This record gives sequence, C-alpha cells and structure tokens, in this order.
Amino acid sequence: MGLARNPNLRSGDYLEGMLNDFVGGKTKSKPPKSPPARLVTMLTCLQFAFAIYATFLLYYLSPAIDLRTKPDFSWATKFAQNWRNLIIPTHVVSRYQDSSNSLVQETPAVAHFTPREVCENEKIDFQQKKSDDAVMIKLKRELYDEVLQFQSKSFGTETLPELMKMKSKWDLKGPHPNIPKVTVILNHFKRKTLCSQLESLLHQTLPFHHVWVIAFGSPNELSLKRIVDSYNDSRISFISSTYDFKYYGRFQMALQTEADLVYVLDDDMIPGRKMLQILSHVAGTEKYKNSVLGSIGRILPFRQKDFTFPSYRKVRSKEAGLYLPDPAYDITVGRIVEVDFLSSSWFLSAELVRTLFIEQPLTFMTGEDLHLRYVDAISYYQLQKYRNAGSYVLPVDPKDKETWGDSEHRLAYVSETTVIFKDIVQVRDDQWWKAFSTGYVTQWAKLYPQKVDALFYAHSLSEVKALAPLLEKFRSTVGKKTYIAVSGGGFCPCEDAAVALGWPKGVCRERRFKIFDLGIGAASSGVSDSEVPVIQGVYSSLKGLMRIHNPSVVVAVDDVDLSVRKALRMAAEGAGNGTTLVLLPRNSVGKALWMADLRPTALPNWNKMQISINIITQNRVHSLTRLLNSLSNAYYLGDHVPITFNMDTKVDASTIKFINSFNWTHGPKTLRRRIIQGGLIRAVSESWYPSSDNDFGLLLEDDIEVSPFYYLWIKYALLAYHYDPQVSLPELSSISLYTPRLVEVVKERPKWNATEFFKRIHPNTPYLHQLPCSWGAVFFPKQWKEFYVYMNMRFTEDAKKNPVQIPKSRTNGWQASWKKFLIDMMYLRGYVSLYPNFPNQASFSTNHMEPGAHISAKDNVVQHDKSDFEVPLLKEDFRNFLPGGKLPPASKLPSLNLFNQAVSLKGLKAAGAKLKQDVLQCEVTETVMVDHDTGLPSQCAKF
Ligand SMILES: *[C@@H]1O[C@H](CO)[C@@H](O)[C@H](O)[C@H]1NC(C)=O
Ligand SMILES: *[C@@H]1O[C@H](CO)[C@@H](O)[C@H](O)[C@H]1NC(C)=O
Ligand SMILES: *[C@@H]1O[C@H](CO)[C@@H](O)[C@H](O)[C@H]1NC(C)=O
Ligand SMILES: *[C@@H]1O[C@H](CO)[C@@H](O)[C@H](O)[C@H]1NC(C)=O
Repeated sequence: MGLARNPNLRSGDYLEGMLNDFVGGKTKSKPPKSPPARLVTMLTCLQFAFAIYATFLLYYLSPAIDLRTKPDFSWATKFAQNWRNLIIPTHVVSRYQDSSNSLVQETPAVAHFTPREVCENEKIDFQQKKSDDAVMIKLKRELYDEVLQFQSKSFGTETLPELMKMKSKWDLKGPHPNIPKVTVILNHFKRKTLCSQLESLLHQTLPFHHVWVIAFGSPNELSLKRIVDSYNDSRISFISSTYDFKYYGRFQMALQTEADLVYVLDDDMIPGRKMLQILSHVAGTEKYKNSVLGSIGRILPFRQKDFTFPSYRKVRSKEAGLYLPDPAYDITVGRIVEVDFLSSSWFLSAELVRTLFIEQPLTFMTGEDLHLRYVDAISYYQLQKYRNAGSYVLPVDPKDKETWGDSEHRLAYVSETTVIFKDIVQVRDDQWWKAFSTGYVTQWAKLYPQKVDALFYAHSLSEVKALAPLLEKFRSTVGKKTYIAVSGGGFCPCEDAAVALGWPKGVCRERRFKIFDLGIGAASSGVSDSEVPVIQGVYSSLKGLMRIHNPSVVVAVDDVDLSVRKALRMAAEGAGNGTTLVLLPRNSVGKALWMADLRPTALPNWNKMQISINIITQNRVHSLTRLLNSLSNAYYLGDHVPITFNMDTKVDASTIKFINSFNWTHGPKTLRRRIIQGGLIRAVSESWYPSSDNDFGLLLEDDIEVSPFYYLWIKYALLAYHYDPQVSLPELSSISLYTPRLVEVVKERPKWNATEFFKRIHPNTPYLHQLPCSWGAVFFPKQWKEFYVYMNMRFTEDAKKNPVQIPKSRTNGWQASWKKFLIDMMYLRGYVSLYPNFPNQASFSTNHMEPGAHISAKDNVVQHDKSDFEVPLLKEDFRNFLPGGKLPPASKLPSLNLFNQAVSLKGLKAAGAKLKQDVLQCEVTETVMVDHDTGLPSQCAKF
C-alpha cells in the first residue's frame, strides 16, 4: 500500500501516494512521470467526491430543506468503505488492533514530561511582506471598499465594539450568565505550533470545554502526542490518524451532548486570549447564529472585462479578489465582513457542525481533517447552499492583539503564499470555480445580480443534442443571454456536450459562463443507482444557479429523467415568479425557436395560458375525422390542451362512436350534448366560457382543418402581444388562424389579397382586423365574457330591431348569428383580431365548406366558389415568412377596419363611438368599459 508513511517523504509525496490509492486503487512501484498533473487530477477527484458527499448529507440533515424524497444511504455505505481504505494505513491498524480499540491510546507507564521539556516552537524567520506597489494597494483598497460598502447597505457591517454590544445568547457577565461549552479542534501536521496554541487556549478569557488535537498522517505524530500528554489535562485529548472507528462516534458525542460551539483551528493559527469570548458572543447573536466565523477569509475573483474570471492568485488584477486581512496591502478588518470562504479557522455552532458531519452511518466520516486541510472551502459552500449560512471574518481591535484570531498572522500568511504543490493554485482555482459554477453565490454574484434569458439543463448527451437548436437560437439572438448546465460526470461529460454543441472542449475548463458542469454523474456512477444524489445535485445546483443568474426560463426536454424533473421543478418553484420551467418535447424544440425572440418580460409567462379546443359537431363524421387528425398531428410544446366536443341534438351514431373512440393525448377529453337543438348561434357561442383570465378558447366547427403549426402561432402571438407586461394591446380580442380571400362585409364581396395590400410594409406582416373569424380563432376570456353580456342585451331574431347599424355594412342585413353580434360589439368598442398573412393566403386553418345542418344558417356562409374560401394549410415553420423572422412589435402591426381599410386603433374606436349605439349612452369620445369579471358594462371612458 502506498500509505506506508515514510518520514523522508515530503507531505506532497505522501498525499499523492494516498490519493493514488484512493483514486486508482493500484500500487505503482515506479514514481509516475508527471506527478503534479496527476496529483492535481486526483486531488480534484477526491475533493469533488467529498463535495458531493457533503452536498448530499447536508441536504437531508437540514431542517430548512423541503424533504420530498426519502434518503437512501446505501451508496453512502459503499462510499464509506472507500474512505476506510484510504484512512487506515494497514500497518498502523495492526499496531493497535491487538491492544485496545479505545480512542486515546493508553499511554504505557513511561517517563512523564513537562511541557517545558517537550515543547517545540516554530521560529518564524519569515518577514511579513509589504507591497510597495502603489497601483496594487489602490486596487485592493478600492475593491475592499466596494465590498464593504455593499455589505453595509445590504446586511450591515459592525465594528468589534458594536458586535460586543449586541444581545447574545451567550452572556458571560450579566446577572444570569449563560456560558457556552466550546470544543476546540486543532489540526496538526508538521508545524511546531501546538504548544503556543495550547498556551493561548489555556489562558482564554472564556475557558474551553475540550480540546481535541488531531494529527492526521503527521510526521510529528509522536512528538505531538508527547506534548498533549505533558499537559496532563483531562480536557485535552490527542487523536492520531491511526484512528479506530470509535473515534468518530465519540467525536459526534462530544458535539451532540456537550459542545455548544466548535472552533476548528489549523496549525497556523494562534488565537488571541479574548478570541473564544468574542467568537461565542457573536455566534450567540440572532443575526450571526447561523454563520461560520473566522479570522482569515477570501473574496473570490470578480468577472473581468473579457467576461472571464481570473485566478485568485493573478497579480496586479483588481478582479483577483481579496485575501482578508491582507497585511501586504495594509488591509485590516475593522468591521465584520462576509467572505466567500474562511481559511485556517472556523467557529460555528455545534448544530451547524452536525449538518457537516452526519452520524449515520457511524463508521462513515473519518477523514475530516483531510477534509479541513484540503477541502476546507467546499463544505462551507454547502453550508451556504443549504443553511444560508454566511462566512464572516470578525473585526479586530488593531491595538489589542488579544482580539486577533491570528495573533501570529505571518504563520497563516506563509501557508497562503507558499505553494505546497506546483499546481495547487490550479487546484484551488478549479475548486472555487466548480463551486461557483454549480451554484455557490459568491460576493461578486451578490454585488452584481445577473439576468439571463434562458438556462438550459441537459441530463444526457442526447438531451444536449435535442436542445441544441434552441440554445443556438438564443445565443445567436442579439441581446439574449443564455447558458447550459449539464449533469456532467458519467451521465453527460462536459467535453462531449461541448463537442455536440460545436464548441471547443476548452469551454469546460475556462472560467467563463457558458456551460456549467454540475458533476452529478460522478456522484452516483459506481457508487449507487439511487436517485437521491441526482435529485439533490440537480436541485441544489440549479437553485444556486438561478439565484445567481435569474433566468427567465429554465429549459429542458420533457422526457428528462423523472427525478431530475422533480428537482428542476422544486428549484424553479423556489425561485419565485421570475423563473419558469419549460419542458419541451424533443420534436418540438426546433419548432419553438421563436421563443428566443420573446422579451424577458414575456418569457416567464410561458406556462400561464391554457388554450382549450372546443369542437362543434353533429353529423359530419368524415369532416370531424379530418379535423381531429389534423389536431392530433400538430405541435403542442408539451402543453396541457383540453378538448371538448359540443354535439347538437341531431348528432348521429357514427359521430358519437368516433368521438368515444378518439384518443386525445394532450389533455382531458370532454363530451357535451344538447337536448334541444341549439342551432349554430347557440352551438358555437355556448361551446365555451372562460374559467379564468388565462383561459383561451379555440372554437372549431367540424369542417375545419388545421395546420400542424397552428398552436405555435397562437402561443407565440399570445406571449408576444398579450402576456408581455411591456406591451399594451387591450383591443386584441382574438387570434385568427385563417386569412380571408374576400371582403365579406362589402356588398360585392371583392377579392382581398393581404400580401398585396401590405407589401409596402412587409408582404407577410400579420395584421389587426376588426373582423372576427369564425373559421378557426382563439377568443380571449375578457372580451368573450363581454360578448356574452352584449349578446344577451341585444339579441333579436329580427335584424331590423337591432339598434346597431354599421354604415355600409352587409352585416346589418344578416340573420341573427353569433358572429354578427360579435362584429357589432367589436365595431362599437374598437376591438380587433390578429390575422396571419402568408404567401397565397396559406393559413393555420381552412374551411372545407361541406354541407351540414349548420351550413343552413347560410347568411354568413355563401354558396360561392369554394376556392374563394379554402386556403392552403401552412406546412412549414412560419417564422421564415415573418418580417425579420419574428412577430413585429405590437406598435408596428397594421390595423384594418371592418371594410379592410387601414385605420389606426384609435380611429377604429372613434368610428364605433360615433355611432352612439352601444348599450350605454356614451359621448363620441368615449367607449363602453366593462367589468372585467362579469363582462357587464360599467361606465363610459375616454379613449
Ligand atoms: C496528572 O494529573 C492528575 C490529576 O490532576 C494527577 O493525579 C497526576 O499525578 C498527574 N500526573 C502527572 C504525571 O503529573
Ligand atoms: C410574485 O408576483 C407577485 C405579483 O406580481 C408579487 O406580489 C410577489 O411578490 C412575487 N413573488 C416573488 C417571490 O417574486
Ligand atoms: C385509443 O386507445 C385505446 C387504448 O389505448 C385503444 O384500444 C384504442 O384503439 C384507441 N383508439 C383509437 C381510435 O386509436
Ligand atoms: C397576392 O399578391 C401577391 C403579391 O402581390 C401575389 O404574388 C399573389 O399572386 C397574389 N395572390 C392572388 C391569389 O392573387
């Protein structure tokens, strides 16, 4: 085993041997050719494995988390076995196995030493570096001020005296003192600082409860142990890495039954005498009780002008972030400051620690000092992610060294500036970037809230490929920002995803927002098939990424793994109104490219509308079959679309049979049948009534046929003109699927060619028209309710009794029909419909003009040349025809009056008001306003 410790090895070599065992499990007799690179990989693997483990555990431990799934620990047990192999050097185990299993080794009766005899002290011959680079000093100072200013506004930054004045649960002095039990954990490796630490701890103004000296794999194990023994203090225990499994249990017990607070110190920290008191006080305040406190911290890099994030060690760069305090640049911490992570010391409540170190299974967590030494940042990321626990560097009194957590800061500074491994900077950069790109909210992210249009999530490579067209469309649309997150690991390797998207593999390594590798695959593959870590990983990462980037929509394919779907939903629901989850069927992705042309204000409303299909039928089963086939073959983007059949009394057996056997896969199917013949006027108008303001009714007679793209047209138009809070088009009351070829309301019924008419604007611009369409249109809830009330007040069979006479309109002579009353209302109030306008009048619906009972209501269906009414159905993506490939802004839509003359929306209202024939007596400058809920007329209002 490579774990055999050789005192001549430097720590780096030793660690490498260890990692080698963990990662590969192979024994290499020869030293590898390029140790650093390999080491870096392995370190990263190890750290990452740990991060995943911590992520998972924390999720289930945290009471703040929505527990919708049951934890499954089977994988964890397997994982623990790996750790066990890693942690227990075989030769050491055999050394202890036979004697005792107790934690602290029974010391054989040997000569006892006093601390004075065994203490070693570190000679610090390192001079604290001071920068004389004026530019750097200025840059660092500016950044620090910017951070402080932001924090003082958002959260408040107290000075030390202010902190000490705050009310704390841990009151050491008052009449009813409440003194916390603090367990101190000292991590030791090679430094000779143990005696200084113990001396400081023994003379604290708040005495500690226990000190655990942990020496994991330390070459100085024996001398460290001798020192602990020499103090002969039952409160101070020594735990060597030659661990036995009960150790962990005891550690847990110490935390659970005794300690209130835990102070973890690396061997480069010698705390001032007042440290425990100050830390406990602050940790007992309401404001900081969920925080991790420390004395040294780091603000992670900021984004540079080129949109990349620099290395945390980049020189002469403002964006490299901050090391706090930084004596080199004279940066001291005078006010409590939130940092991205703490190094060298961590003070937190035992309860928070328990979220880090789970006790189940007991034999599990054995590598925490490895963890603290090399993976320090990661688990604190988890704390933030799950408990909203911030990390803070406490302020000091510069004149009172006893208030310093690092009374010998030079020690920590050496650790900070000395690179143990050549590639440690790279490792650490990878580490923080990994955390950041999987949802850790850094100070930069808090200072600079982001707003992206879409965040894609792909769990597998095939999903990447399926989503690629839409992702690319977003990316190529001016002003749109979008990123993709992939599960990573074995599920969907980032580099493969990049290749599938036609991007260089390097995008997975550069520190730039583009593709986020969540590394989820690594968590489960080979460890367990359990869905739990997957849900957990996706949920936590997406939640963080949404907090940082505020996407308007999160897009995934709708056949994504069920547990992933659950996780995406949970994350999106938690994100509030701003973010909507869009699940698209794979075959629809390429049909929804117009999504990228919607405004960010409209995008989050993607799922709001409900469009129901309402079919009016009786005895034309052949027609009905054709209609239903065309409906079944259309794209619905995964939306829920209910279908209702409204059958009049004379419905025949074959129609009923067919409807019964018809399978509708997009939503519920409802059948309604009349007892007394309604005729067209009731059959159509009563076929649908809105149940909410988001309920839109598509009314279809059975001899209509639709284009596969009809639903996309409706949805796109609704999002662009109705659901965008930045667009005001209250006159829009329906969306037509059909482009007419005649001017219906003029006596001679002249031919009408919209393409020709609008060619100066754009031959295929959609347009607004005062005419409602009865051959395939979606009606809006507000105006439909209004129409019900209007018709109720005005209905008369006798055309002459109708008080509304639209000048020069053939409709005045029409028999009573629902469309006639709708025309009247739209004319009086200046409402319009949106119409498509494609080459050759190709439309989203056509009417086959087949004879049937309803055709006998002949006044609005003329016995004319069929070719004047039947239009071709659009069979290709309509985007290509639209001006600029997208729907024009609402303000650019041309509008026509009932007679196909160009009139502004205002002009339409004026014409209607001029008649003064509405249900209320209004002035010529006013139209009738209606109650939104009931549709009842309420007042006149100026337009
Ligand atoms: C250690 O302390 C215990 C109790 O305080 C005492 O009885 C014992 O003599 C001490 N041992 C040594 C070697 O000083
Ligand atoms: C959601 O929207 C409503 C109404 O627009 C608003 O009152 C509410 O604060 C929003 N909630 C969130 C979490 O943004
Ligand atoms: C509808 O689905 C049922 C059950 O899946 C099937 O038996 C029936 O044949 C289907 N009907 C049609 C018309 O496809
Ligand atoms: C309509 O006008 C366009 C453009 O002027 C023309 O190309 C097309 O042939 C016309 N269609 C009909 C049916 O007249």
